[in-house]
Amino acid sequence: MYMVMPLLRTNNKTRRESIELEQKGFTVWFTGLSGAGKTTLADKLEPILRERGLKVEKLDGDVIRTNLSKGLGFSKEDRDINIRRIAFVCDLLTRNGVAVITSAISPYRAVRDEARETIGEFVEVYVRCSIPELTRRDVKGLYARALAGEINNFTGVSDPYEEPLNPEVIVDSETESEEESLGKVIARLEELGYLPAQVPVTA
Ligand code: ADX
Repeated sequence: MYMVMPLLRTNNKTRRESIELEQKGFTVWFTGLSGAGKTTLADKLEPILRERGLKVEKLDGDVIRTNLSKGLGFSKEDRDINIRRIAFVCDLLTRNGVAVITSAISPYRAVRDEARETIGEFVEVYVRCSIPELTRRDVKGLYARALAGEINNFTGVSDPYEEPLNPEVIVDSETESEEESLGKVIARLEELGYLPAQVPVTA
């Protein structure tokens, strides 16, 4: 009887430690039009993954364009280079056990699929929102300018956005609350085994 408790405790501890050691890296790849809510969801997802004990790194499209991809424009060639750079970093982090969250428009299906192929542990989240709604929000004032013809190659207005055909998650920021969308992402991560389901801690 006296031997049982210490043994159980040791086993639990060993199991907990091995779970921590074996954190499997993965990349949550948010894609969608400018202003659809990719960054908002990424920012909210980050602390949740940390709270669940994961090492997390976030690569935000706008931030990447001020450093890693500084100087690149919005031609197809430049966007492809931008996305390949992001995918390269995601891959490095993912294979080292990090939970990576990235949010760039990434409008071209072929390059997203290339990223999926390279990274392997890839969870594509399509953040959907219609152009009329994005124009109504127009947080950065870019849609008004794009619709007035003042910005060339603006995604969704004068440049293509190729919707994902088979993403792991589709969220709709037009009809869902942020919490609902976030809940869908978390549920899918749990379902895919990347995120341990929350279990009550026993003494
Ligand atoms: S991507 O196509 O290469 O994935 P990325 O996500 O890095 O794009 O950058 C998109 C951001 O750049 C938008 O949110 C917007 O603020 C800004 N931007 C400036 N010009 C454009 C444009 N022509 N098309 C889309 N976004 C643009």
